[in-house]
Amino acid sequence: MPASTTDRTHSALDVGWVRAQFPSLRLTVNGQPAAFLDAPAGTQVPQQVADAMRDYLLHDNANTGGAFATSRRTDAMLAEAHQAMADFLHAERDEVFFGQNMTSLTFALARAIGRELQPGDEIVVTSLDHDANVAPWRALEERGLVIYQVDVHPEDCTLDMDDLRRKITGRTKLIAAGYAANAVGTINDVQEVVRLARAAGALSFIDAVHYAPHGPIDVRALDCDFLACSPYKFFGPHQGVIYGKREHLVRLRPYKVRPAPESLPDRWETGTLAHESIAGVAAAVEYIASIGRRFAPGMAEGAAGRREAIVAAYGVIREYESALARKMIAGLVEIPGVTFYGISDPARFSRRVPTVGIRLARAKPAEIAARLGERGIFTWDGNYYAVNLTERLGVEREGGLLRIGLVHYNTAEEVDRLLAALREIAAR
Ligand SMILES: Cc1ncc(COP(=O)(O)O)c(C=O)c1O
Repeated sequence: MPASTTDRTHSALDVGWVRAQFPSLRLTVNGQPAAFLDAPAGTQVPQQVADAMRDYLLHDNANTGGAFATSRRTDAMLAEAHQAMADFLHAERDEVFFGQNMTSLTFALARAIGRELQPGDEIVVTSLDHDANVAPWRALEERGLVIYQVDVHPEDCTLDMDDLRRKITGRTKLIAAGYAANAVGTINDVQEVVRLARAAGALSFIDAVHYAPHGPIDVRALDCDFLACSPYKFFGPHQGVIYGKREHLVRLRPYKVRPAPESLPDRWETGTLAHESIAGVAAAVEYIASIGRRFAPGMAEGAAGRREAIVAAYGVIREYESALARKMIAGLVEIPGVTFYGISDPARFSRRVPTVGIRLARAKPAEIAARLGERGIFTWDGNYYAVNLTERLGVEREGGLLRIGLVHYNTAEEVDRLLAALREIAAR
């Protein structure tokens, strides 16, 4: 779909250029252009990511540590991919480790942390989080750990920070919280979560999976102990990544095979990794940096370092996404019979990403998603594993929510199409 002039006026971002990088966005469904409003479940990939994966498989495919050309190129590619993720998170290269996905990595990390803890020690999780940041910690209940779950304010789906403070005790060993909520888009005050954890002598684990496509992450400024994200949610292939402070990654004892190196990050990267996918992750980080170099004011192509370009890219992305979110939310709350979950006051939009959850009085989320899907509009229904939240909001047994998630390749025309279709479904 061509970029509209309205898209350009909102931002420095040229959405026409952006969309041209993503071949899959040309898909049509029943004669209509596909509108990918399903980003929270996984974003599309630019051509350069697919090229990097194909090139790795066709030219460099090998295991690591061998005394021959393709193995050496694999080692070099892995080092560069760790550096790319380190630039993305503002970490050191050996403080990031790759794995199948965020969920598997978090279970592995939680098991390693659990080995250090005693029965009666406490962990705090939240009701706003995806279950991948709840279940791995709850699994430690088997070892006698006590898990407390922080409540949310149901009226705007924000974390109840007073409840968090109440749940911290002298036995709290870790606080696990999300950076942004995958069901309703709330950005949490993670700086304050980390500060509270530190003050209590506890570790902090931040799930940044949903935040990563929308805003810059700086683990140094945040001073968190651990942070997780999933490159397939920020224009890369299926893959998970965790950052950990070096002191913890050295001290903790991950479950590993004996011959695997004890060095960082190897001791955390169990078995042979999906090398082609990791090559794609480095390309995804490069793609984001290219947005900064191309569109951020005062930034010339090639002039900025990668970290600087990534931070600049998110300035441009956030500005563009905010304008789209404003338009979408203003339209959604006007639809007769709509219930909107999450922050809807434009004055508070700095506390949200452009992911929204709604219900309509006359149609269940699954039905709405199916009817939108027939028109080529891709959304999601249910709980998207944020089941603690849908239970808390009392909608779990009612089919959950309809989730609409925008990223910087979506357009104002797509939002218009969505709103028109929803108005029609609501009026049926
Ligand atoms: C906020 C959040 N955390 C964690 C996950 C799990 O990520 P993965 O699929 O990489 O295990 C998701 C996936 O949807 C998510 O949205």
